Amino acid sequence: MLAVKAARDYIRETKRITGKPNLVLPVTGHAAFHKAAHYFDMELRLVEVDPVSFKAIPEKIEEAVDENTVLVVGSAVSYAHGVTDPIEAIGQIALKHEVCFHVDGCIGAFVLGWMRRMGREVTPFDFSVPGVTSISMDWHKYGYCPKGASVILHKNRDIRRHQIFTCSQWTGYTVINTTIQSTKSGGPVAACWAVMNYLGEAGYQRLISRTMDASDKILAGLKEIPELQIMGTPEMCLIAFTTDEFNVFHLVDEMKTRDWIIQPQLGYNGSKENVHLSIAQAVLENVDDFLKCLKESVAAAKKLDNSAPPEAMLAMLDNIQPEMLRGPGFTALMSQFGMTSDGVPDRLAGLNQMLNVMPNELTKAALTEYFNELFTPAA
Ligand SMILES: Cc1ncc(COP(=O)(O)O)c(C=O)c1O
Repeated sequence: MLAVKAARDYIRETKRITGKPNLVLPVTGHAAFHKAAHYFDMELRLVEVDPVSFKAIPEKIEEAVDENTVLVVGSAVSYAHGVTDPIEAIGQIALKHEVCFHVDGCIGAFVLGWMRRMGREVTPFDFSVPGVTSISMDWHKYGYCPKGASVILHKNRDIRRHQIFTCSQWTGYTVINTTIQSTKSGGPVAACWAVMNYLGEAGYQRLISRTMDASDKILAGLKEIPELQIMGTPEMCLIAFTTDEFNVFHLVDEMKTRDWIIQPQLGYNGSKENVHLSIAQAVLENVDDFLKCLKESVAAAKKLDNSAPPEAMLAMLDNIQPEMLRGPGFTALMSQFGMTSDGVPDRLAGLNQMLNVMPNELTKAALTEYFNELFTPAA
């Protein structure tokens, strides 16, 4: 959000913006950019990615850029498929059109930096690439720190200045906020400092090397399961895989019964529904068990109900307007997918399958409604 705000205000000051500012985001870009566009009332220009590599296509990005573009975004790596966008080519587009370019390194930058130091090949992604104007990184991911301390780096002070909010036009104390959060705790930063000092360079090198060993083993194991296809070529330790042979969401349920949590991802714009793994260093000792459980889960999933959602159900969903999901409409719809007043069922494949085929606006409305209901006291 800070990268988007800083870019918007920097470009507004340095270039003539005649209309609503927009940001250009590959469909694989993190939801956080949708959120920023939503909060800041900016236009979000989503662009397709390559259907095989799941990397952004520079030409598509360039087509979407116009005189009101303030920012283009690339990922290093993307959360869903764990691949790095062609940062160098996007950087050239940013330079040519004089727009800001944010590299989302929230989950990848720390690991990629270490991989490079350890001699692994890494797609260029940082300020050494011309055109990159900001980079983000989350300590609470592969930095193994508690949540609440993330990093945003700007290429220069002229851009960073626009991240800062200052107000002395009121009757109280002068406010100077460097982030969106105003009053905030120093606790997470202190905890982060402590973890970094505790682990040190040697500690991080050990953790990242264990993470990559686990990842290499899992990737090799996945390639031996004929029913599964890895999506794209994972650059580090995030992997997405899918299947054409059964409802992939059954795998999530089956793995849960074997004490493994893997993450379902709904299909979107050329990326079929799939399972995502974010592999951490602690998995290394358990890779063999993971692969054994996965093979068993594949065999079990094939025996479950793998029929496509009934046509009548799809037709019904097409006729529901998002507003109809408020209140009783929501309860009625969700009960069809096994949700009761006691909450979500143990097995979620049916529900995930429906969320996967529902029109996007309806999925969004249903999930919002679920949370809104969750935090409503019983009458
Ligand atoms: C690639 C990537 N970008 C951004 C984010 C930041 O998300 P948020 O700001 O919603 O915590 C994440 C978190 O998972 C991420 O993986």
